[in-house]
Amino acid sequence: MSMLYHIVTYGCQMNVHESEKISFILENMGYQFTPNREDADVIVFNTCAIREGAEERVFGNVGALKKLKKSRPELVIAVCGCMTQKEETAKLFKQKFPFVDVILGTFNLHKIGEYIAKAKNQKVFELWSEGELDEEQGYNRSSGKNAWVNIMQGCNNFCTYCIVPYVRGREHSRSVENILSEVKQIAASGQYDKITLLGQNVNSYGKDLSPSVSFAELLRLVTAANGDFKVGFMTSHPKDLTDELIEEIATNDKVLKEIHLPAQSGNNRILKLMNRKYTREHYLSIIEKIKSRIPNVKITSDFIVGFPTETEEEFEDTMSLVEKVKFDGIFAFMYSPREGTVAAKMEGQIPLEVKKQRVNKLLALEKKIQKEAKKCQKK
Ligand code: SAH
Ligand code: SF4
Ligand code: F3S
Repeated sequence: MSMLYHIVTYGCQMNVHESEKISFILENMGYQFTPNREDADVIVFNTCAIREGAEERVFGNVGALKKLKKSRPELVIAVCGCMTQKEETAKLFKQKFPFVDVILGTFNLHKIGEYIAKAKNQKVFELWSEGELDEEQGYNRSSGKNAWVNIMQGCNNFCTYCIVPYVRGREHSRSVENILSEVKQIAASGQYDKITLLGQNVNSYGKDLSPSVSFAELLRLVTAANGDFKVGFMTSHPKDLTDELIEEIATNDKVLKEIHLPAQSGNNRILKLMNRKYTREHYLSIIEKIKSRIPNVKITSDFIVGFPTETEEEFEDTMSLVEKVKFDGIFAFMYSPREGTVAAKMEGQIPLEVKKQRVNKLLALEKKIQKEAKKCQKK
């Protein structure tokens, strides 16, 4: 009988895609996927550290496996991803859940097969503090007709609330050759009608390559591959969204007319405290440009409410920005302090009750906007 594996994935598309890599590695070792963790010989948790809630879910779900492991000691449990890349959290895992067999971070993820094999005889606890992008390109793609393609790793922006730069390292662009060879393979397979290019801030793609390559140029090169597919991308940072890129999206038939452009706040003082490096006015001017140049474009965004010291009036600036832009969709998050980040140490942390009120108010506004948009479509 063949050995079975199960993966639980938390967090962003980057993690979803990395779980496709884990799955590829395990299947090459002879494991087969099972949707039931109770039946699995190996269970992998690919974790996210972006907010406290995400971490609590992981702790709860890993903790719940204690019984299963007791009844089947040969079961291998591995925890990897952004949460365990933080040394303190990794140590906490080791201490709280001694039955976990493998703990690794984001930089040594490609070693997971080796570690799981080792774990039959010993516990493995290994975090690398940095590493190169693994460009082996082995993925067991699992997102239907969409194929994810990672174009860069890490982030240099250090938004003061965000843990990502600490757990994913600095920006590192993948070479154009490697990206194109993966894209050509995907296109040639004929199985996908969409390719989504992934990075924490795709607009700064290629700045670290020599010669440098802009993201707009990369889009041109990727869409030049033969095949019937459209190209999407995420995420864009407003500070780096160039006219060249808007022009490319507007004129290139193969590029989807969809932009996820997180604003985070509509208030200049808060944007500055967040270290976002743009103002409300600049954000709105980009939106204007995009809307006038790309008809029927879909724009979505992310917002954080209750950032330290945010007043009611400053929150209202976020409300008015959302009202003004009329996004096609937004994600609204309550600010969650992340240990090690600048904002976590700021004075003026906002009480949970206030954050809840604000997030509900923002989501109610978004709902109203969506309802009105639907009515307009029907007319
Ligand atoms: N690289 C992307 C997205 C990163 S994380 C970008 O720069 O936009 C996805 C979203 O999670 C962010 O856009 C932000 O809205 C939210 N987020 C990040 N850190 C957070 C925190 N500490 N508390 C609440 N939300 C957070
Ligand atoms: Fe986090 Fe900011 Fe980087 Fe996005 S751009 S990953 S929010 S630090
Ligand atoms: Fe979470 Fe890591 Fe993505 S912290 S949002 S899984 S980069």
